[in-house]
Amino acid sequence: MNVVVLISGSGSNLQAIIDNSCDIGIKIKAVISNKADAYGVQRAAKSNIKTEIILSNGLERVEFDKKLVKIIDKYNPELILLAGFMRVLTNDLVDKYAGKILNIHPSLLPKFKGLNTHQRALDAGEKVHGATVHLVSCELDSGYIIMQKSIAILVNDNAKTLADKVLKQEHILYPLAIKKFIESCK
Ligand code: GRF
Repeated sequence: MNVVVLISGSGSNLQAIIDNSCDIGIKIKAVISNKADAYGVQRAAKSNIKTEIILSNGLERVEFDKKLVKIIDKYNPELILLAGFMRVLTNDLVDKYAGKILNIHPSLLPKFKGLNTHQRALDAGEKVHGATVHLVSCELDSGYIIMQKSIAILVNDNAKTLADKVLKQEHILYPLAIKKFIESCK
């Protein structure tokens, strides 16, 4: 199955997807970043994956998404994987690829949609935290949940330790969830 991966940053989830792509049964046709200096762009290049940069600075969301659609369609992907892509997509884009966009989010959705999930989980006195892979819908972080992975919050945890622990679990979760999703589509 041909996929494209959208990133904005370090791309450690992208790396987990690259490393497991054979087992998942996908071919990454391109990595698209809205940041030229995203480390994930280098990860993609190292794996000989085509990279595309669409700078988002100063662009209205509609304009950016028009450019994004043009680039995505060049690769004709069957699946679009958001891996630390830090932009909210327009409803038009989400509708165009309905049921074909997956995202990974660092909380046990429906808890803690949006940003700063680790601090918010601590502030709420949660005992358990984690990550979710879900289908992208027009409402932020609210689409159908494909798979989740949880970790215990320990008394000494802070936002940084939680972020590290959750990210480690994300690297296991995302490849598994993509594989499960593809198999459920067959
Ligand atoms: C991850 O925590 C992901 O859940 C969130 O952004 C972070 C991206 O990390 N959406 P990376 O770029 O994959 O290292």
